[in-house]
Amino acid sequence: MSLRSSPLPPAGVSPDRLVRPELLGLSGYHVADAGGLIKLDAMENPHGLPGPLREELGRIAATATMNRYPDPQAQALKTALMVAFGVPQREMLLLGNGSDELIQILAMSVARPGATVLAPEPSFSMYRLIAMWCGLRYVGVPLRADFSLDAAAFVAAIERERPALTFLAYPNNPTGNLFETDAIEAILAAAPGLVVIDEAYHAYAQTSWLDRVPSEPGLVVLRTLSKLGLAGLRIGVLIAQAQWVAEFDKLRLPYNLNVLSQLFATRLLGETALFAAQIQSILDERTRLASALGTLRGVHVYPSQANFLLFRVAHAERVFDGLRARRVLIRKLLGSHPLLADCLRVTVGTPGENDMFLDAMQELLK
Ligand SMILES: Cc1ncc(COP(=O)(O)O)c(C=O)c1O
Repeated sequence: MSLRSSPLPPAGVSPDRLVRPELLGLSGYHVADAGGLIKLDAMENPHGLPGPLREELGRIAATATMNRYPDPQAQALKTALMVAFGVPQREMLLLGNGSDELIQILAMSVARPGATVLAPEPSFSMYRLIAMWCGLRYVGVPLRADFSLDAAAFVAAIERERPALTFLAYPNNPTGNLFETDAIEAILAAAPGLVVIDEAYHAYAQTSWLDRVPSEPGLVVLRTLSKLGLAGLRIGVLIAQAQWVAEFDKLRLPYNLNVLSQLFATRLLGETALFAAQIQSILDERTRLASALGTLRGVHVYPSQANFLLFRVAHAERVFDGLRARRVLIRKLLGSHPLLADCLRVTVGTPGENDMFLDAMQELLK
């Protein structure tokens, strides 16, 4: 018998025979190529770090032991996060490679046969995608036309679907608004499973449900350092009662936060004045951008508590393409949900980037 492998794969081995059928039908999360473009599509903080701080990070990187695995518990980073976010107990914290990973851990942890994930729509598309990856049923509950949460419809959906996991982005992406406190209270009271309040844009909204975690057994709060200004480090933070964190932690891959991310984030969380100034500049620009955009012909801008603006404009596809031709990349939402017809989303950039966006918009809409 020859040990040489056959040049052809054994008959029958192909993705369509092996991969789960629901995955074959999915398209992955699409990230546009931003090469050479003014990048206003992904809710990043446009301000980098000042030179001396970057140089200090270089020196910190030189101390990193890259031949060793990182601290699996990321203890120093957890200490810094407890201070930065006001988390009372270390055992209430779980860290992820971005909050995307934490959403995946949450979904995996409840993925019993027939379990359901519920979320308002439109909202962050990863809730639906990850639910499908984990073999969960996903049910979306439409927001009202003004993107507010219809508490009665949502509570009715909770009673009908009995979700194991309910996601509420606060503020919501891509709409930018904060859901009403009363509506969230009603959802917390009705939900038979976990309610995840995803505070990815907390830095810009400055309102939170974190203080409620100790008294709400089923409440999970998610945060991320991405929108604050450290998207490249990929650090997501989950805060829940310790009994939940102990279970979720069993699904976390060992060493999910690399050594450089841990070192840099631990150091940078001390830079409160720097980030506060950057956030203030983004909030000022959000106000300026919203009012300038609102004066353009045929543009309707939605109120935002995040670092982006959702707007509606006739011929949105043409506007998106026109912006791209002028080297400005924003996010196209039309086609992703019926409530988002003619909608585009722009991330608040630096004053210069916002001017380029506004100039391009003016030219396209005149
Ligand atoms: C509501 C919401 N949650 C989570 C994320 C993912 O953030 P991270 O970079 O921490 O994975 C995003 C990113 O756009 C988001 O909008």
